[in-house]
Amino acid sequence: MIVLGIDTSCDDTSAGIVADGIKTLANVIHSQVAVHHPHGGVVPELASREHVRNIVPVVDEALKHAGLGMTDLDGIAVTVGPGLVGALLVGLYHAKGLSYVLGKPLIAVNHLEAHILSIFLESEHPPFPFVALTVSGGHTSLYYVEDFGRYTLLGQTLDDAAGEAFDKVAKISGMGYPGGVAIEKASRNGRHDGVKFPRAYMSKTSLDFSFSGLKTAVSLFLKKWRDDPVLSAEISLNDIVASFQEAVVDVLVAKVMVAAKRMGVASVVLAGGVACNNHLRKNLVEAAGIDGMRVYYPRPAYCTDNGAMIALTGYHRFVRDGATHMAVDVRARYPIQDLMLE
Ligand code: KG4
Ligand code: ZN
Repeated sequence: MIVLGIDTSCDDTSAGIVADGIKTLANVIHSQVAVHHPHGGVVPELASREHVRNIVPVVDEALKHAGLGMTDLDGIAVTVGPGLVGALLVGLYHAKGLSYVLGKPLIAVNHLEAHILSIFLESEHPPFPFVALTVSGGHTSLYYVEDFGRYTLLGQTLDDAAGEAFDKVAKISGMGYPGGVAIEKASRNGRHDGVKFPRAYMSKTSLDFSFSGLKTAVSLFLKKWRDDPVLSAEISLNDIVASFQEAVVDVLVAKVMVAAKRMGVASVVLAGGVACNNHLRKNLVEAAGIDGMRVYYPRPAYCTDNGAMIALTGYHRFVRDGATHMAVDVRARYPIQDLMLE
């Protein structure tokens, strides 16, 4: 079964084509970074307009890359949520149009499920069950994954997502947008213990996260640092962002390990845009290794938003539940638990 997957949930227009939920035939991503960069973050209305402009060429390019025509497709998968409503609408209505014209099933996909399953785009993927940490610009959540379609939310952020914290700290420290890559790069030339920033563990047993206090602490420190010539001679901006990154990574790694031990799994999966971060990958591999666990993470192009993970997830959704009704609508909020009720 050849499935086209479309994602327009945020600021990337992407289309992927996957055969039988295993083999990626195309994965085309049109980034909107240049459009949003001057605004220091994603502007929803601009994102929708860009999706309208790019959705047709991106799908065409994916087909071209796969060497396929429209009529070779056996199903059209599309993200219906969570995400920006105006942006999601562009992808959903394009998918509905294709499904209707081609007479092929429409398959609604939950973006969070797609991040969890993105590891199956790689030939090296874990056996079930495993614990997955999805860390992106919009989400920071821990899941216990028993099988395709069987997920239990173990914990999530109570305020900012980890990626959002990276983006905000990059903005206030003048490193621009998007922030994660810039901070990782600057951190390579900084001291990770330059500044002692707070780590919000809540309680030792809690699997929830909180990053807003850390973001405020960095903001207050930057203010003090800019006004104090002695302090700014001692500590560099690279030290500050490296210390911030260390604080985020420490908490993420600690919570993944608590979750993995509690659930008794042998494998953990990292997914979402922040999973591109090499410091996070390295520290988690080290921590998991001590307990004999194995860490899996997809290549960066499958960590950030992409159409291939939507196609793969659509395939599994179709096998489970069949086609989605044409009347399906977008959902700004779409908790993964809802999948089990559908
Ligand atoms: O999954 P994604 O592409 O979009 C969402 O669904 O949000 O994730 C984007 C997020 C951004 O916040 C970006 O700053 C972060 O992932 N990110 C990183 C890195 N690369 C991207 N954060 C830390 N280190 C990175 N190398
Ligand atoms: Zn995402």
